[in-house]
Amino acid sequence: MTARDLAVIVVAAGRGERLGANTPKAFVEILGRSILEHSLSVLSNLDALAQVIVAAPATHREASLDIADSVLGQAGIRIDVVVGGETRQQSIANALAVVDSAADLVLVHDAARAFASQSLFARVASAVRETRTACIPALAIADTIKRVEGENVLETVDRSTLRAAQTPQGFVASELIAAYRVAGADFTDDAALMQSLGHRVLFVEGEAAAEKITVASDLVRAVARLSSGGAETRTGIGVDVHRFSADPAKPLYLGTIEWPGVPGLDGHSDGDAVSHAIVDALLSAAGLGDIGSNFGVDRPEFAGANGAVFIQSTIALLSKVGYRPVNVSVELVGNRPKVSTQREATERALTALVGAPVSFGATTTDGLGFLGNDEGVAAMASALIIKTEARLTS
Ligand code: CTP
Ligand code: MG
Repeated sequence: MTARDLAVIVVAAGRGERLGANTPKAFVEILGRSILEHSLSVLSNLDALAQVIVAAPATHREASLDIADSVLGQAGIRIDVVVGGETRQQSIANALAVVDSAADLVLVHDAARAFASQSLFARVASAVRETRTACIPALAIADTIKRVEGENVLETVDRSTLRAAQTPQGFVASELIAAYRVAGADFTDDAALMQSLGHRVLFVEGEAAAEKITVASDLVRAVARLSSGGAETRTGIGVDVHRFSADPAKPLYLGTIEWPGVPGLDGHSDGDAVSHAIVDALLSAAGLGDIGSNFGVDRPEFAGANGAVFIQSTIALLSKVGYRPVNVSVELVGNRPKVSTQREATERALTALVGAPVSFGATTTDGLGFLGNDEGVAAMASALIIKTEARLTS
């Protein structure tokens, strides 16, 4: 683990005129998540990340903050949202004004490149860290390239020395900030701005997944990539049961939050059957075993632990094998507590932890069995997860 020295600027303030949607491009949804959310979700486990700054349209400041909080809020990352400017460069200038003074490196990323992989971010960051030189991802060009004038093709350009520039582009923070102070013109990327001032720029191999969503057909391609093939998405189920504690003073935790007025549940941890069922559903979806095989009762650090600890660790385990949750649904079975009293708060807390929508329901057993007798509660969860790495690298 590298020290937290990295700030990432995600520019999302464009209007998306070429896309032609009725909302700014970063807020157009692909399979139920906005482009901004897709582009931020890859950052939640990025090594050394200290700060994320989103440049948003003035109309979407609050919405951007909500999205960033829900995706990154639990990861201990400083989040800032600034209002963007008329041009991409102006939007970045506004973001640079709030870069944390402790950040040594800064990466600038287009929200519109919503599916750039975590490994691309890591590759660019390490190149800058090692060389103290600006570095961008660049992709070889497959098409034969022609120079034209009017209606005439003048010549074929040697494409072997050409690359398409992508983001995230990485810089030593102080150098980029200084360059923006003196930049004389409007450039289409930050590498060009730096080079106009004589800075050297290196490149690492880009990736097809990081291609920019610009026109409507790019959206169709993104949907196709995201939803293609059963191998990319997987489902899992989880069940957990805990007995009510004999100690009436023990507090009840379900879905990571406290439920006043109902006795707590027994267990090695805090007995949060809802969170544990979610953990099992996520682990089973990823083929990673279950809560017992990952966080066994022999591990003292999990004694009395809140469900949030297990869920966060589980998301990290999934991320290591390239998966992230798409949605989770969980159902409590038992007489108490009355879920309707705190359903929304629970869904909010769990959604923030899982990084994807979590819905929470409840039922009773009509008085039958150990749940009907009020001996304890059961929870059942299902999870859908999707491959995030590799799926979009062509
Ligand atoms: N961008 C920005 N501020 C601007 C213009 C662009 O933050 N004033 C961001 C966009 O939100 C996008 C990235 O820069 O993530 C790349 O720009 P582009 O793909 O051109 O997006 P838009 O400007 O939104 O699209 P269009 O040019 O079609 O209007
Ligand atoms: Mg634009």
